[in-house]
Amino acid sequence: MKVSIRVPATVANIGPGFDCLGMALPLYNTITIEETVLPGSGVEINVLASEDLNTELSLEHIPMDENSIVYKAVELLYNSIGQSPSELKITIHSEIPIAKGLGSSAAVIVGGLIAANELLGRPADEAALLSIATEVEGHPDNVTPAIVGGLVLSSMEEDGSILYRKLDWPQDWILTLCVPETELVTEIARSVLPTEVPLADAVFNAQRMAMFVQAVNTKDADLMKAALKDKLHQPYRMKLVPGLEKLMTNLKHEDSVLGVVLSGAGPSVLVISQKNDLEKVKNIIKDSWNELDIKVQLYNFNVEQNGATIVNE
Ligand code: HSE
Repeated sequence: MKVSIRVPATVANIGPGFDCLGMALPLYNTITIEETVLPGSGVEINVLASEDLNTELSLEHIPMDENSIVYKAVELLYNSIGQSPSELKITIHSEIPIAKGLGSSAAVIVGGLIAANELLGRPADEAALLSIATEVEGHPDNVTPAIVGGLVLSSMEEDGSILYRKLDWPQDWILTLCVPETELVTEIARSVLPTEVPLADAVFNAQRMAMFVQAVNTKDADLMKAALKDKLHQPYRMKLVPGLEKLMTNLKHEDSVLGVVLSGAGPSVLVISQKNDLEKVKNIIKDSWNELDIKVQLYNFNVEQNGATIVNE
């Protein structure tokens, strides 16, 4: 038996929502798991990256043995029903840029998990899949939208369960995803974060997070401008993301821009703006990275409303 799962990329954090806010985007990884017939052949993992990706560098970030996150996810699922994975061939078709802050690892974890769940006759329900995926990833903000799609608030409860709610992204707020040629592995981007933060910074983010939810629900652009700020991770990561500070400064006085935020742990950046002046905003974005001699690719996406889906072959 063979199962393929298509999983969307995700942007996490989105300003004030460190480790709790994420949205799915229409860029996908497809993870296929096939039961092989040779007894004792173990688990084989292959990664096929899209030609557009800077493969040599980025593939280094994906272990292809038992240390791989896809293996860990599959193993946890098998273990949850008292079994161990064996005689499996896992193939990852990667179209989501790797080490760019676009949830490529979350997509691989979710794809492996859901494919294994299908092979095993669906022992895990959505809640169990969310918990296992979060256990492997460490935080729920990428894996939750990767599983359920849309713009999602999520929290990890004390018993390890994941609570989530979807929000409706206002259609006329444009998402411009800026993907620079630089790479940043999440592990490194998390290692620069402090283990404790000043109370005033925690309060700052709590205030902005509350504003974010109200701004989205009432499509209030002025409130959103105030909400798209962060003191929990962006200031610490600024030095790892060349271009971010410059871009924030260069777009600061653009009326149509609601915010400039790090996508996940970076180095990609999400610019949220209103429809007017989009071309001008895009030119400012390109110039900001050009000044640093860094190539950047820009994408305008709508939120992907579907999470992981089974691919019928
Ligand atoms: N919330 C996570 C972080 C997302 O900022 O580290 C990246 O995986």
